[in-house]
Amino acid sequence: DTVALAFSGGLDTTVCVPLLEEEYGYDDVIGVTVDVGQPDEEFAEATETADALGIEHFVVDAREEFASLCLQSVRANADYQGYPLGTALARPVIAEAILEVATKEGCSAIAHGCTGKGNDQLRFEAVWRDSDLEVIAPVRELGLTREFEIEYAAERDLPVESGNEGAWSIDTNLWSRSIEGDDLEDPGYVPPEDIYEWTDLPETLDTETIAIGFEDGYAVSIDGESLEPIALIEKLNTLAGAHGIGRTDMMEDRMLGLKVRENYEHPAATVLLTAHEALEGLVLTQEERSSKAHIDQQWSEKAYEGLLSAPLVDALSGFIDATQQRVTGTVTVKLEVGHARPVARKSEYAVYSESAASFNTETVDGIKQEDATGVAKYHGYQDRLARVTTATDDAP
Ligand code: ARG
Ligand code: SIN
Repeated sequence: DTVALAFSGGLDTTVCVPLLEEEYGYDDVIGVTVDVGQPDEEFAEATETADALGIEHFVVDAREEFASLCLQSVRANADYQGYPLGTALARPVIAEAILEVATKEGCSAIAHGCTGKGNDQLRFEAVWRDSDLEVIAPVRELGLTREFEIEYAAERDLPVESGNEGAWSIDTNLWSRSIEGDDLEDPGYVPPEDIYEWTDLPETLDTETIAIGFEDGYAVSIDGESLEPIALIEKLNTLAGAHGIGRTDMMEDRMLGLKVRENYEHPAATVLLTAHEALEGLVLTQEERSSKAHIDQQWSEKAYEGLLSAPLVDALSGFIDATQQRVTGTVTVKLEVGHARPVARKSEYAVYSESAASFNTETVDGIKQEDATGVAKYHGYQDRLARVTTATDDAP
C-alpha cells in the first residue's frame, strides 16, 4: 500500500516518512509538495530531502489558483484577529492538490505532519475526509513533540536543518510567512530580527508613494502597469517589504481554543487590504459598509477554519460580489517605515459630492444648509425626554 504525504522537507514531514513505513506499515510513501509561492530554496530542500529519504516526490504548481484566492480575500477585507489570513487560505488549496495526486497514484491513504494542537490538521482533514482515503496524522496520533522529532532525526541521521531555522516552525506562501515555536512560544520573549525575511525596517525615514488600481474589488495594477495576480503580489511584497511593512506579533486564539504566540510577515497583503478598504470608503454607502463588515467577518472566519467551500460562503460571496461591482478605481498609498497609509483615492463610482460636502457652498441639489435645522431639532430628542422622565421619577 502507498500513502501520499503532504511534504515540505521540514522537520515534521521528514520524520513522518520512516514512521509511516515502520509504525503504520506502508510499503511506499510518496511526498507531495504544493507550490503556493514558497521561495525556491524550499523546493530544492524538499526535493533533496525526498531524494535522501528515497521517496518519490511530486511538486504541484498551484500558484495561480492561490494568488487569485488571495486577491479574492481582499474583496472580503479578510483578516483574523487583525492579521491577513495566509496559511488558512493556502491549506485547502494544498489539500486538494495532494488529494488529486494521491488519487491518480492509487494511494490508499493520505497523511500530514501537523500537530494535534493547531489549525492546519483541521483544514487539511476537512478536505480529505470527503474522500475514501484513510487519513493519517502521525505527529498527532503518536503524540510527538518537536524535541522528540529533533532527537529522532539525529539518531536516524535524517536530513533536517539544524539551528534556529530548524527549531522554528515556518510556513511560507505567496501571501504570508508565519514563524512560530521554540523560544517564540514565550509571549514575553522579544523575537530577534532574524525571524524576518521579507521585511527590512529602514533605519532612516524614507518614503515611497504607489498607486494601486482596482477593478471590481480585484487589485489589477501598480502605478498604472497591469499585472497578473502572482506578479502583482510578488512586486508588492518586495516594494513594501523594503519599508518594513506588514509585520504582526500577536496572541492568536486557535480553533481549538488554545492561545498561541504568532509572528507573521505579509507586506503585499497589508498594502492591498489598506488600499481596498480606502476605496470601499469612497464608493460604498454607509449602510453597505456596516453590513459588509459583518459579512466580511463571517467570510474571514470560514476562511480561517479552512471551510470556504461551505454553502454559507456562497451566500456571503453573493453579497460581496454585489458590493464589489463599484469597487473600481485607484488608491495612492504611502509606504513609510513599517506603515502603509492611503493618501488619495479616485473612482468614477464615488458616493461623494464635493460640492455638497464643501464648507464653501451654500445650496447644492436644492438642499440648503438651513435645511438641517429641523434635523438638528430632533437629534437627541428621545434622550432629552428620557432625562425629564428620570428626573420626575427621582423626585421625592
Ligand atoms: N496559526 C496560523 C494559522 O492558523 C499559522 C499556522 C502556520 N503553520 C505553521 N506550521 N507555521 O493560520
Ligand atoms: C501545527 O500545529 O501543526 C502548526 C500550527 C497550526 O496548525 O496552527
